[in-house]
Amino acid sequence: TELAARTAAVISEMKNLEGPLIPILHGVQEEFGYVPQESLPIIAEALNISRAEVHGVFTFYHDFRHNPAGRHVLKVCQAEACQSMGSDAIAAQIKQTLGIGFHETSKDGAVTLEPIYCLGLCACAPAAMLDGEVIGRLDADKIEEIAEEVRK
Ligand code: FES
Repeated sequence: TELAARTAAVISEMKNLEGPLIPILHGVQEEFGYVPQESLPIIAEALNISRAEVHGVFTFYHDFRHNPAGRHVLKVCQAEACQSMGSDAIAAQIKQTLGIGFHETSKDGAVTLEPIYCLGLCACAPAAMLDGEVIGRLDADKIEEIAEEVRK
């Protein structure tokens, strides 16, 4: 299948790295926007490790998406500096506004919400990133703006 071929291409590029499993999973996610279930046994076979091992690593790291992302991806910083500036309350407000939790995508496919651990924007905490653009000093107004943006 096409999926198998694209997975195999990623694998062959990274197979010779030391500790290739995580780079391959990242590569597959870059290729598809998430890591398709069907890719896992192909990776296991190519690296000569068990499917359980691949699955274990895949589920352990929260970086890996199990499903395709929405049209927009909003990452909200949950690391220390942002925590101390109220990122928990901000995240709760965002979840309520968008109607989804972390690692979820809204039903209309508009937006995926993910936690991230430091955007290097600690001086402007609490921080987030929408489609690769950083947003500092999150507050209720900015959350409203974000919600409007993703509904477009
Ligand atoms: Fe949130 Fe650094 S801790 S940007």
